[in-house]
Amino acid sequence: MCGIIGYVGKDKKSLHVLINGLKNLEYRGYDSAGIALKDNKKIKIIKAKGKIKNLEEKVKNGIETNIGIGHTRWATHGKATEINAHPHRVGSVTIVHNGIIENYIEIKNKLLKEGYSFNSETDSEVACALIDKIYKEEQDKLKTLKKVNKELKGSYAFAIIFEDDNKLYAMRKDSPLIIGVGKNENYLASDVPAILEFTNKYILLDKNEYAIVSKTNINIYDSKLQKIEKSINTYEATREQAMKNDYEHFMLKEINDEPLAFEELLKQFNLNNIDELTNSMPSLEKYENIDIVGCGSAYHAGLIGKSIIEKYADIPVNVEIASEYRYKKNFNNEKTLTILISQSGETADTLAALRKVKEKGYDTLGIINTVDSSIARESDNVLYIKAGCEISVATTKAYSAQVLILTLIALVIANNKKTLNKNEINNILKDIKMLPSNIKTEINKQEQCKEIANKLYKAKDIFFIGRGIDYALCMEGSLKLKEISYIHSESYAAGELKHGTISLIEEQTPVIAIVTDSSISEKTMSNIKEVKARGAKVVLITTNKILNKYKESHIYDAFITIEDISPVIHPLHVATLLQLIAYYVAKEKGLDIDKPRNLAKSVTVE
Ligand code: F6R
Repeated sequence: MCGIIGYVGKDKKSLHVLINGLKNLEYRGYDSAGIALKDNKKIKIIKAKGKIKNLEEKVKNGIETNIGIGHTRWATHGKATEINAHPHRVGSVTIVHNGIIENYIEIKNKLLKEGYSFNSETDSEVACALIDKIYKEEQDKLKTLKKVNKELKGSYAFAIIFEDDNKLYAMRKDSPLIIGVGKNENYLASDVPAILEFTNKYILLDKNEYAIVSKTNINIYDSKLQKIEKSINTYEATREQAMKNDYEHFMLKEINDEPLAFEELLKQFNLNNIDELTNSMPSLEKYENIDIVGCGSAYHAGLIGKSIIEKYADIPVNVEIASEYRYKKNFNNEKTLTILISQSGETADTLAALRKVKEKGYDTLGIINTVDSSIARESDNVLYIKAGCEISVATTKAYSAQVLILTLIALVIANNKKTLNKNEINNILKDIKMLPSNIKTEINKQEQCKEIANKLYKAKDIFFIGRGIDYALCMEGSLKLKEISYIHSESYAAGELKHGTISLIEEQTPVIAIVTDSSISEKTMSNIKEVKARGAKVVLITTNKILNKYKESHIYDAFITIEDISPVIHPLHVATLLQLIAYYVAKEKGLDIDKPRNLAKSVTVE
């Protein structure tokens, strides 16, 4: 979603830093961009609709300055137009803003009465006018920001420049903001990758904190405007990891990163045997049931987790979409562990769900990729998936790593509850240890995935069917496909088709059937026959063992099999194939795979 970058320094570098910073933020998703460059009292604002390259065209003759702020906007209040793009300037104040001001209409009405007028439809311009108004009254910048913070409702982070000095000002509520620490130059950004090419040292601004940043000083103030000291962190991932290397798209690179991601994840635990694994995990013994909360693919990872935990560890698991969870009745108690899954760690709905659970005083565990993100910091316990920087909007390696960590959790609980014997679990652990190298065999099936994609890319509708855990995989396969290929797709529990959906199947409709659970394969095969009889073209994703059983049955038009491994890790193998198929379908259609239309990487609005 929206991204912030700010620079104060030397050698008239601001244009270069801001444009590059914005490019580094592109992965978050945006539909317009802009910068403000300040030279003494002169502030030049340049904005453009669409991609950063449109902005770059316009700033060719931009002024060279030592201070500036920039922004990528993902439209919420008002369309993606140049006028609505940030920065906004009102009077002596210029701002960029991430988040949402909930009470902006109320404030706007008051300001209109006081003679302010507005060019854009945005809540951000209203906040800017409010800062200007209060600054005129207070004549003190910090006191102004504190007052503004009190008046605004919602979630936000601001980078601000005032006309009368050469400093950056920052204010943070719920949206993340960091200060990058350089030598005779400093930065502001909504996340570290934005500034990683300039510095990997950063200070994290917490909720209701303020900062004044000049080229040589960083001063931070708490909610009472007391000056505070904060530690300088070092971002561990290299810039290389955040780059595409030789891959055509980040999505393909990130699928290829899966072996490394699994290796890094597993390194955190002792996998020699289940007792050692249990000791290297947070204690899970007291819980009688689990709630899993997430959005999109994180929610789908939760559904796989539910299947595995219920099957192997025999405790009930309730999986909820975060935006629903927060507004409904929850039946949790002190014996419930709520697991919040989020790659970014900043998803607004998941964060709100976490806070809801914490208000009740029940235990929370974050399964998070981004270190020090809001959900990671606010959860009682956190397990990092260590997938490394994920740039492509469509998640791949992070989803797979979320599934892997849920699998480990299932095994630990199964051991605690003695629902599986230690030998069985230790054998599964052996397969898990081999996962980083075994998953490469799936990644190497790219030619097969391409062939399947070739059969699919002209379709208008594609159905995914499966039962049990395979149905959960269908949901992720379908989401991945539609988000990047723009082909309408639905996932169905295979047995449910005949209760309505089968009327949509006609000659040549592609149906992707996932069948990995041999205990119910017979049932799914019957459902495949039902669609086949109505003209569907069936792509079967299955295990070698199951395929052998049905080889002669002529019920599929194409197939791809996964390696024969412990059933508990089947989903990870299938997921990689589904990601590759979606990727090659979108590639065949020549689409902007890493930045699909309308989508954002980090969804920081409700
Ligand atoms: C789909 C996708 C999204 C995210 C969802 C949650 O490919 O990436 O559905 O999974 O927006 O994001 P996080 O995990 O950052 O909370």
